[in-house]
Amino acid sequence: MRSVLLGAGSYLPKRVLTNAELAQRVDTSDEWIVERTGIRERRIAASDEKTSDLACTAALNAMKAAEREAKDIDLIIVATTTPDLTFPATAARVQAALGINQGAAFDLQAVCSGFIFALATADNFLVRGQAKTALVIGAETFSRLLDWEDRGTCILFGDGAGAVVLEAQEDARERGVISTFLRTDGRMHDLLYVDGGVSETGTIGKVRMVGNAVFRQAVEHISAAMLEACARADVSIDTVDWFVPHQANQRILDGVARRLGIDVDKVVSTVGVHGNTSAASVPLALDTAIRDGRIKAGDLVLMEALGGGLTWGAALVRM
Ligand code: UT7
Repeated sequence: MRSVLLGAGSYLPKRVLTNAELAQRVDTSDEWIVERTGIRERRIAASDEKTSDLACTAALNAMKAAEREAKDIDLIIVATTTPDLTFPATAARVQAALGINQGAAFDLQAVCSGFIFALATADNFLVRGQAKTALVIGAETFSRLLDWEDRGTCILFGDGAGAVVLEAQEDARERGVISTFLRTDGRMHDLLYVDGGVSETGTIGKVRMVGNAVFRQAVEHISAAMLEACARADVSIDTVDWFVPHQANQRILDGVARRLGIDVDKVVSTVGVHGNTSAASVPLALDTAIRDGRIKAGDLVLMEALGGGLTWGAALVRM
């Protein structure tokens, strides 16, 4: 039994926030942001746009690409750090809004690694026969967690959503999720966190990050996770057709590629125009590269991410 990726979809809010606009708010410059991160612009959700709205549009686009309807979906996992409400799960809202009246729907919280964790979770449900067709969504209105006076974080993040449809198939002919690797090290909790929450402060809080320390952890752990996902599948990293990384910083993408001897032309980069959209970043990049014709049926794709927790992981998928 394999979890075959039948289709992907995404959604970006209309409002573009440029580096030049940010330079009017905090002590920064377009040159600094581009040189240190590769980010030129990011999208910001409208005040009446919720995470579930972004998630629903991405999910509908993925269902269309997968040629699956509401009646086919029996599992929804929404990876998000920015739920509509503390409860119920954003996934429950998505389920109702899409007219899906069967199966389970829940949120998963692994911050920027959320989509990789959700993909691995859905894969386990499908190969165990506990669901047949899953919507795996990464969706964020991350801008609502930003401290717009902190130049170390507010320049990095953006809003958006991406989704895939996974289906359990017995005769998958090598297609589908081949291996996944997930890891959390809670000792690094304080390197990247939000300084508020239901139980500790009763507030929403803002993102806090020790940027350069997270940067070092990212290059090291992402590289190791990619090698581990390949090793688990007994596949050489040289045979991977496309790398779809979490879009945190172009220098992290370049650093990992250098470390593993990967051809940079095989690395999908959307960080320049999306910024870091947390759990949405990997499916947004995946959908971009499928729609522009780079990633094709039969290609071997390696996705990876690292985020707050710290959490990190990788997933190897034959399209
Ligand atoms: O998605 C979850 C994972 N997140 C990440 O992977 C993010 C990882 N971290 C990063 O991407 C980078 O660390 C940053 C882009 C956040 C920062 O870049 P850096 O090259 O690591 O800079 P730094 O934090 O070491 O700071 C260097 C200098 C500091 O000034 P001083 O102390 O040397 O005078 C900062 O205050 O750059 C300053 N700085 C800025 N200057 C202009 C920090 N942010 C800015 C800014 N504009 N926006």
